[in-house]
Amino acid sequence: MSHQGLFLRQFFADFFHIGAILPSSRSLARAAVAYLAQKQGPARVLEAGAGTGAFTREIVPLLQPGDTMDVVEINPKLMATLRRRFELEFGFQTPEDVAVNLITNDVRHVARNHQYDYIVFSLPLTNFPPALVQELLELMMAQLKPGGVFSYVHYIFISRFKYLFGGSTVKAEMQANRQIIGSFAARYQIQRRAVWLNIPPSWVYFWQKPG
Ligand SMILES: C[S@@+](CC[C@H](N)C(=O)[O-])C[C@H]1O[C@@H](n2cnc3c(N)ncnc32)[C@H](O)[C@@H]1O
Repeated sequence: MSHQGLFLRQFFADFFHIGAILPSSRSLARAAVAYLAQKQGPARVLEAGAGTGAFTREIVPLLQPGDTMDVVEINPKLMATLRRRFELEFGFQTPEDVAVNLITNDVRHVARNHQYDYIVFSLPLTNFPPALVQELLELMMAQLKPGGVFSYVHYIFISRFKYLFGGSTVKAEMQANRQIIGSFAARYQIQRRAVWLNIPPSWVYFWQKPG
């Protein structure tokens, strides 16, 4: 089955965690790794919510000897596909002294064990209740090293539709999530970029922990 077909199936099976009907486009993936692409010296990278590897594919060629990447995905079927890509696809080969850890787990259980220079995050926060959004973002910023960069993808129109057509509980949760994300953005945001070549179009936010 194609990556797109598998992703769509998993979307219907588990909308809460997947949150998108298709893997991200190359344009969105390139935007999400823009700061990572400027890295200097060895780095530890966390990819949270790797899916079938749309972002992973852009991260791998940026890795250099001495780098470590933790690729975390909660869905075993998506991770199985990603694992096969590492085994079979030329673009997923890394130099010997780069460590890539493919981890099928909730990122909350993995991230607290390490400190990261870069975190590439694409969990569908708009699907999550406010307490979970707060917990995830607090954890991500706590595990980011000083000077490290966190990038986060957020669909441009989807939340507006959801807000317009959602009931009062959905609206209240979405407002609470907006406030939570806004308070992190006020502290940490250094840039945001719109990416139109994606289904759906997306923002990429970049947050940096003061050095
Ligand atoms: C919007 S998809 C993005 C997938 C991929 N990065 C892409 O851009 O195509 C979100 C991904 O996050 C994963 N996910 C959701 N909650 C997670 C969690 N708590 N820990 C790890 N992965 C999670 C989902 O299974 C899904 O693959």
